[in-house]
Amino acid sequence: MAKQFDLIIKNGAVLTSDGVGRYEIGIKDGKIIQLSPSIDSGLAKEVIDAEGGYVMPGGVDAHVHIAQDFTSGPKGVMGKCADDFLTGSRSAVCGGTTTIIAFAQQNRSDESLLKVVQNYHALSEKSGAYCDYGFHVIITRPEVQMLEKELPKLIEDWGITSCKLFMTYSSMQLSDNQLLDVMYETRKRFMTTMIHAENGDLISWLTNKLEQRGLVEPFYHAISRPPVVEMEATHRAIVLAEMIQNPVLFVHVGSASAAQIIRNAQTRGFPIYAETCPQYLHLTWDDLKRFHSPKCFENSKMICSPPPGPDDSDQEALWAGLRNGTFTIYSSDHCPFRYKDVHGKALGVLQHEQSLGSARCPVDQEHLSEILDDKTGHFKYVPNGCPGVETRLPLLFEYGLKTGRVSPERYVDLVSTAPAKLYGLYPIKGALIPGISDADLVIWYPNDALPSFKLTNANLHHNVDYTPYEGMEFGNWPRYTIVRGQIVWAEGELRASASVGKYLKRGTNQLATRPTNSIASDKRRVATWLYKA
Ligand code: URP
Ligand code: ZN
Ligand code: ZN
Ligand code: ZN
Repeated sequence: MAKQFDLIIKNGAVLTSDGVGRYEIGIKDGKIIQLSPSIDSGLAKEVIDAEGGYVMPGGVDAHVHIAQDFTSGPKGVMGKCADDFLTGSRSAVCGGTTTIIAFAQQNRSDESLLKVVQNYHALSEKSGAYCDYGFHVIITRPEVQMLEKELPKLIEDWGITSCKLFMTYSSMQLSDNQLLDVMYETRKRFMTTMIHAENGDLISWLTNKLEQRGLVEPFYHAISRPPVVEMEATHRAIVLAEMIQNPVLFVHVGSASAAQIIRNAQTRGFPIYAETCPQYLHLTWDDLKRFHSPKCFENSKMICSPPPGPDDSDQEALWAGLRNGTFTIYSSDHCPFRYKDVHGKALGVLQHEQSLGSARCPVDQEHLSEILDDKTGHFKYVPNGCPGVETRLPLLFEYGLKTGRVSPERYVDLVSTAPAKLYGLYPIKGALIPGISDADLVIWYPNDALPSFKLTNANLHHNVDYTPYEGMEFGNWPRYTIVRGQIVWAEGELRASASVGKYLKRGTNQLATRPTNSIASDKRRVATWLYKA
């Protein structure tokens, strides 16, 4: 006889963004169909006993870079992501994430965003994925006619309801005028605009000055981007967003000063959202000197933009922002560049040597180690970003939830529910509502059931040859990860194939996308006049 449930999860402490309770979960055809104090085990094909552990909605990581080719550095040098959809999503599920949103990037030579998305989608179809995935678009060529023609198709045909804009990187940086052009169009269509807020001109001025003084080792990446670089750009983007009344989200916020400016704007009642990431809670400038000397090129592993803050005072401010709601979401900004790879961090040495006329380029993988060991490189050629899709949930569990820095409910909101709402996936994702939500779940070990261990990169499932969190202590880790009812990760083993993941068409922002009518109709607000019929 057909069983009523495919899977039942018994005895767990069910944790959502609303609270914790003793419930059992019944799953059928990939959906949660029952949530009640007790369900008869005999009704299911398979039973998981979650006694003593938390059971919660699967992680939604709204900021990952997968199979993306980047230009980095002033010469448009190519860096390539080491993870494709298969390895990136594999790493995601092994760390409790069941949905990822990655970036389909328009290069300046690409005239059509739709073509960019089609090509990117073909990559995910080819490799398959272990978890569900959606896309944001990165717009680097904001031509108004193209936006008017293509944004409606992106929304209707692809369910892409968010775009990312850059205020830095010569190959991507938009002027204020261009930022306004995009915001004007996205606001009409209820899209969320994600902003990478760093003042690109300031960075290139500082980079030139440092270069003239011979200060180019990895550590000086941070000095070329002091916190004021992020603060100024954040302030400027808020001015533009307020004028247009467009909802923006600041991605990867790294400094206390930028967080404060965001908080002030939120207090004025504007639809401004923000994201921070593990690297800003756990790394500082000192980590760019972690390997035996600031000159050592291995410190390039910790190069990301914005850089981590000067010391732990910024970290404390960001923890406070996670608690008090300044940060809507917590994402990984997983940016998988291998260290020893001609498309990865090694470019910081190879391109520098080439610029000095002393490189043997192209260089084969075999000879890379000896070159990296003996050179210091130049930070401006190093692809920016750190891997972290797999460590995102465990880090915030260990250092946020267990320490009491964030409550259990806030934990679920930050890693799952709020990103699902912000990017139009709720309550299919980010919730446990019977009859509605996908059966995407993470189950943790009971307290103290897993012996504490020091993380090493060999524990992880990405295609990157390092983790910034090497040696950090963990006392828990996702015990099971379930994607639409399928157990993909169980007690340290990958259990499924990459045919599980499906492309997600998303809806619009389900948090407030517009100011209230009373604000919008206020004559002093410029937007009232800009959008008049
Ligand atoms: O350094 C970073 N954050 N690299 C990834 C690209 C981006 O700007 O998000
Ligand atoms: Zn960015
Ligand atoms: Zn990023
Ligand atoms: Zn050699």
